[in-house]
Amino acid sequence: MMSLQQAYAAAAERWQALETSRVPIFFVGAATCGRAAGAGETLERLRAEIQAQKLEAHVIETGCLGPCSLEPLMIVHKPDAPRVCFGKVGPREAVEILQRHVLGDDPCSEWALGAITPGSVNGIGAFADHPMMRGQVRRILANCGIIDPESIDHYLAREGYRGFLRALEIGADQVVEAVKRAGLRGRGGAGFPTWRKWDVCRGTPADQRYLICNADEGDPGAFMNRSLIEGDPHAILEGMLIAAFALGASKGYVYCRAEYPLAIARLKVAIGQMRELGVLGQNIQDSGFSFDLQIKKGAGAFVCGEETALIASIEGRRGMPQPRPPFPAVSGLWGKPTIIQNVETLANLRLILRHGPEWYAQYGTEASKGTRTFALAGKVKRTGLIEVPLGTTLRQIVEEIGGGGSDGKPIKAVQTGGPSGGCIAAEKFDLPVDYESLAQAGSIMGSGGMIVLDEETCAVDLAKYFISFTQNESCGKCPPCRVGTRAMLYLLERIVDGKGKPEDIQRLEDLAVTVARGSLCGLGQTAPNPVLTTLRYFRQEYQDHVEKKQCAAFVCRPLIQHRIDAERCPGCTACLKVCPAEAITGKRGEAHVINEDLCSQCGSCLSVCPPTYAAVYRVSGELTRHEEIQQKRKPGAAAEHSPEAQ
Ligand SMILES: Cc1cc2nc3c(=O)[nH]c(=O)nc-3n(C[C@H](O)[C@H](O)[C@H](O)COP(=O)(O)O)c2cc1C
Ligand code: SF4
Ligand code: SF4
Repeated sequence: MMSLQQAYAAAAERWQALETSRVPIFFVGAATCGRAAGAGETLERLRAEIQAQKLEAHVIETGCLGPCSLEPLMIVHKPDAPRVCFGKVGPREAVEILQRHVLGDDPCSEWALGAITPGSVNGIGAFADHPMMRGQVRRILANCGIIDPESIDHYLAREGYRGFLRALEIGADQVVEAVKRAGLRGRGGAGFPTWRKWDVCRGTPADQRYLICNADEGDPGAFMNRSLIEGDPHAILEGMLIAAFALGASKGYVYCRAEYPLAIARLKVAIGQMRELGVLGQNIQDSGFSFDLQIKKGAGAFVCGEETALIASIEGRRGMPQPRPPFPAVSGLWGKPTIIQNVETLANLRLILRHGPEWYAQYGTEASKGTRTFALAGKVKRTGLIEVPLGTTLRQIVEEIGGGGSDGKPIKAVQTGGPSGGCIAAEKFDLPVDYESLAQAGSIMGSGGMIVLDEETCAVDLAKYFISFTQNESCGKCPPCRVGTRAMLYLLERIVDGKGKPEDIQRLEDLAVTVARGSLCGLGQTAPNPVLTTLRYFRQEYQDHVEKKQCAAFVCRPLIQHRIDAERCPGCTACLKVCPAEAITGKRGEAHVINEDLCSQCGSCLSVCPPTYAAVYRVSGELTRHEEIQQKRKPGAAAEHSPEAQ
């Protein structure tokens, strides 16, 4: 077996050869997000073209660089030129980039996002200056999209496993001290100080301790952990080595949902490489420290992300939470002290050990140190995986990094923390994103999901969506969660169906408080957050649904009606052809009519009606058809009830 020093030397040599390569290299982002955007076809076409042209060139599959909305992404190494990152590279663009940029002198600036390495190419700026990248600090994600995640050489060449070696050098006590001084808090949920959990575990006498990496990531809209594993699996595994060493744990598990096959495959490759390198197994690097780990696939239940349910699942029992105490740090897996840590918490450890706690704590706020990743999704122009210092404001994230609302529509709110989090109104966007500020705003950081909502999102419907999710995912063990979330869902359904009663809003709020207080685990305790925050910031919308039967966002179908303005409709038949309910009648050249009894309010007619006619409009409210016609005849009334008709 090669010694670690020999492995570092060989890795550095290979990395250097890559950096100074005389043959072109194409790095294609092929994580799950890239593949979903068509990276598979891009790779296939690129390889075929290279073969057809008998070119000497390398193609390397990487993880995700971050800007998911611009995928497929491709970084191109052309000898003697800076590396350039291109976006939206489909099969056609890949071939053109090869021919025009690599073989010719045209930099294909129409697809260029920026230069990755120093220097400029025909006016193409630095990738770091791209609007999506400018406000970011990439420490945790530094390797993602840059290295081949299946090459341990790449990881070693970028200082991989140096943090672990440092841990062996300074000893377990000093590792805990470094994590404490860095101020690292858990990235998976409540933001508990990592060192404190470790202290409890270390202070519990035991013949066996366990470490579990929580890669369950069950929140809708969250993909931070998946992306990190797919892009840099060794970063998490190195973190596990450091944590296990500090804890005196000899056995570890990565609990990853089976819906993440690529992440699992990359972890398997990385674990095999660790064994070969001699950083996993018995007496690692002659330190006396032994550690082994295995992957445990989860079946995709949100509740299994909760630590006691997760432990039950690994033990082969049904994933149901247990009352705490005892906390897992004292009695966890098979009754032994167990530490469960989120993927990103673990990925931070190597940075703290390699660069020191002071370096780590340069970023962040007084109580929330470091950087953290967020999955920016929803109605925002630039979606993707981002990393920012804690304390960055919501406005910076949504408006500067995200570029504001997609289609230029005004942003209404952001849902942080997934179904356990809250909906924060746009007027609060100067809020710094840290654990305390989010809690004060009624939300949580959670594991980093951030869903942007625009004016076309109905606050009541949003609350219903999340309650329906948590209600479905409730394990049913305790009545406040089992029955309470169902009762909340019932009330929300009644309100969006237009059957809400004035007292429903207060009942909903009371129920939310009861469920939060009375539930056994975090799922039930936080499930009411979306309801409570939408009530806090958008109470008027609830009242309008109940009192006026109005959904201002035109989302709740029972509360809206589609109409055709006979004076504007020349009878082009476009709507009639697309209506799936066959609810539209009319002859070519004559104004069309919607039969309200048949209409399902799907909105297809609205989307196809040519803007020059703009004859389809929507109304919402308790106006009768007759009243609405009367209203429309009054000057200015159409604007109130039909924003599209303006
Ligand atoms: C319903 C529920 C789901 C959870 N899902 C996750 C998850 O997917 N990933 C995660 O790291 N933590 C999740 N947590 C939080 C974990 O229980 C635990 O607090 C966390 O993994 C601890 O790691 P940390 O200290 O590194 O944050 C969840 C909690 C609850 C109540
Ligand atoms: S709203 Fe839908 S169902 Fe109704 S007319 Fe338009 S397309 Fe047809
Ligand atoms: S698409 Fe618009 S203009 Fe054409 S028939 Fe329908 S309502 Fe009239």
